[in-house]
Amino acid sequence: MVRLVFFGILFVTVSKAQLKIPDIEDPAVGLPSIKIPNKSLFNNAVTKLGEKLFFDPFLSVNGSISCATCHVPDQGFTQNGQRLSSGVEGKIGHRNSPTLLNIAFAQSMFVDGRVATLEEQAWQPILAHDEMGNSSVSDVLQKLKQKRGYVELFTKSFGDDGISESNLAIALSAFQRTLVSGNSAYDKWYYEGQDDAMNEPARRGYQLFAGQAQCWQCHSIAGPGVLFSDNQFHNTGVSYRSKILGLPEDLGRYVATKLEYEKRAFKTPTLRNVAETSPYMHDGSLSTLKKVVQFYNEGGSKDPLLSPIMGSLNLSDRDIDDLVEFLRALSGDQNYEHPKIKG
Ligand code: HEC
Ligand code: HEC
Repeated sequence: MVRLVFFGILFVTVSKAQLKIPDIEDPAVGLPSIKIPNKSLFNNAVTKLGEKLFFDPFLSVNGSISCATCHVPDQGFTQNGQRLSSGVEGKIGHRNSPTLLNIAFAQSMFVDGRVATLEEQAWQPILAHDEMGNSSVSDVLQKLKQKRGYVELFTKSFGDDGISESNLAIALSAFQRTLVSGNSAYDKWYYEGQDDAMNEPARRGYQLFAGQAQCWQCHSIAGPGVLFSDNQFHNTGVSYRSKILGLPEDLGRYVATKLEYEKRAFKTPTLRNVAETSPYMHDGSLSTLKKVVQFYNEGGSKDPLLSPIMGSLNLSDRDIDDLVEFLRALSGDQNYEHPKIKG
C-alpha cells in the first residue's frame, strides 16, 4: 500500500513536464510567423505525441536509436563532437546532423533540399539503413500498434484514424515546429533597440556581416523576422575543400536536381543558435566558428563552380574575432524545456 502511493507520486512528477506551443503569428522577437499545413492539429495532444515519438528509440529497427540520438536537445538539436552522424549498429552516415531549432521556418528539408516539408521528411530517417534502419512503413506501424500506450495516444490526437503513416509524420512535425528560438541578444538589439544587448565586438561584427564580409548575401538579414538564410543553394567551396583533404565528395543540391551547375551547392543554413551546433558545414569539416570565418576570409576553395559571391575578404584578426562574437549573439531563448520522458 505504502509502495503504491510512492509510485503514484513519482509518476505525476515525471509526466508533468510542459510543452509550450508557440504563438503561430508571433512566435518570438526576431522570428517571422509560422506556416502550418493544418493549424487545428498544432495542439497539445499532437505535439506531446510527437515529442514522445521523437525521444523513443523504439522507432528504430533494434530499439537503439531515437531522433534525439542525433538531434540532442542540449546540443542545439545537433550532435556536438560528431562530424558525421551514426545510426543503428554504428553505421556512419555521410552528413552532419543539422539543428532542428527553428526548423518550422525552413522552406526545404535536408542540406540538398530534396524534400519540401517536415511531413515529407519524417519517414526518411526512420527508413534510412544508416539511421533508424527499418525495412518498411508497415513494419513500423505494426510495432507501434503493439506497443502499450501508442494506440490510445494516436486515437486521442487523430480520432478513428489512429496510427497511420501520415499521422506519425504529422505528430513528429508538430513537435518539431514547437522548437522555435528567437529573442537573442541580436534580436533585442536590432528589433527592440536595446543598445547594450550586444557588446561592442558583436556590433562591429554585425557591420562586417552586413557589409565588407558579404555574409548577408546568402544569410539574409532583411525583414521583420529573419532566419539568416535565403533558403537558396550555394557552392561555398566546402565540398571541394573536403575532397582535397581526402574526405568523400558530396554533390549536394545536384543529387536532388541533377543540374550540372548545382554540383556541390548546399542549402544556406540558419545561423540562429550556431554557437551551440558545432561542428559546422554539411560534413562537419570545420570544428569552430573561428575556422568557419577564416575559411570565408580566404574565399572558400578553388572549386571551379564556386559561387561568384565568394572571394577573399581581407579581414584582420580582430575582424574575424568580431564576426565570431556577432555569431555568438544569435543564440536565442529555448522554447523547449527538456523533460525526462517516460519510455
Ligand atoms: C542517425 C542520425 C539521425 C537520426 C536517428 C535522425 N536524424 Fe534527422 N538528420 C540527420 C542528418 C545527418 C541530417 C542531414 C541529412 C541530409 O541533409 O541529407 C538530418 C536532417 C534532418 C532534418 C532536416 C533539417 C534541415 O535543416 O533541413 C529534419 C527535419 C530531421 N533530420 C528530423 C529528424 C527526425 C524527426 C528524426 C526521427 C524520426 C531524425 N531526424 C532522426 C541525422 C539523424
Ligand atoms: C555564397 C553564399 C554564402 C555566403 C556569402 C556566406 N555563406 Fe555561410 N553558408 C552558406 C552555405 C551554403 C552554407 C552551408 C555549406 C555547407 O554545408 O557545405 C553556409 C554555412 C555557414 C556556417 C555553418 C553553419 C552550420 O550550421 O554548419 C556559418 C557559421 C556561416 N555559413 C557563416 C557565414 C559568415 C560569417 C559569412 C560571411 C563571412 C558567410 N557565412 C557567408 C552560404 C553562404
